[in-house]
Amino acid sequence: MIGKDLDYAAQLLTAEEIVAIPTETVYGLAGNALSTKAVTKIFAVKNRPAFDPLIIHTNAVSRLAAWTESLPDPLRELADRFMPGPLTLLVPKLPVIPDLVTAGSPRVAVRIPRHPLSLALLERLSFPLAAPSANPFGYISPTTAQHVEQQLGEKINYILDGGPCTVGLESTIVGMEQDQITVFRKGGLAVETIEAVVGPVRVKEHSSSNPQAPGMLKSHYAPRVPLRLGVLGELQNGQSKERLGILAFRAGLPGVPAEQQIILSQAGDLQEAAQGLFAAMRRLDQMDIDLILAEPFPETGLGRAINDRLRRASAEE
Ligand code: TXA
Ligand code: MG
Repeated sequence: MIGKDLDYAAQLLTAEEIVAIPTETVYGLAGNALSTKAVTKIFAVKNRPAFDPLIIHTNAVSRLAAWTESLPDPLRELADRFMPGPLTLLVPKLPVIPDLVTAGSPRVAVRIPRHPLSLALLERLSFPLAAPSANPFGYISPTTAQHVEQQLGEKINYILDGGPCTVGLESTIVGMEQDQITVFRKGGLAVETIEAVVGPVRVKEHSSSNPQAPGMLKSHYAPRVPLRLGVLGELQNGQSKERLGILAFRAGLPGVPAEQQIILSQAGDLQEAAQGLFAAMRRLDQMDIDLILAEPFPETGLGRAINDRLRRASAEE
């Protein structure tokens, strides 16, 4: 069931049930992070392997002290500046956080979503919410309540509807590694925006040969119709434009049927493009086409995170 009933959502969560919640990045599949029972359900509903840890969510930085060690200074600066927002910080956890949440790691990922409905919900709860993106493992993250309903509607009692996500990319994950501020997953907060506050940071490039790094398997975001990343004009010989889907930044490809083309931002606005990206991938994935051709974005600002998701969606493993 989809609705806007905060009381009902809070009641279910308090009873260790699972509820899908809106955030500004993507929808989350939430449960009491202090309850092994609730967390086990999250893994089961998502069909997620237990080695992939979960982010915990709350409504205020001041509440983190109940569940984590204090933030290292450079991360504190980021917390003060960007929380609530599309930022997740890796912080040493206190024993009250079950090992199941962190997949055995001594660090827990924490986030304060910038969404009025979720903030109101989190404020009422005495516990943080563990919440991975509300998609079956290996599929694109949902950015509307309807996306969640289509794939997980039968497995969960309630989807809290907060409208379409305004950011549209998962949070940027940041932690300390060898005393350096390190970005482990590019996301809805641009690396440049972080660097404007704390100076140059290290960015871990994602690779499937490095499964310990957050962000997981390379093909994590894969659609079902194969997706190829390439310059739109440079079609392979013999590739039919009739059976092609196009995912473009500012302009499409002449000759491909208009209904098979999605242009993310005619104005060239990366924020607008990010907001529509996952919904566009879902729409294309449902079309009767043989291949999605996605154009590489400028490697700047949110374009870097968009390219990261497109690259992973195009991975062949
Ligand atoms: O925007 C978001 O971050 C969304 C919304 C719902 O908050 N959540 C999200 O969760 O994207 P999920 O589970 O789909 O992705 C979280 C990533 C995973 O790749 C996981 O490996 C990493 O964060 N992660 C979580 N806890 C970690 C930890 N303790 N250490 C290292 N990586 C961690
Ligand atoms: Mg996910």
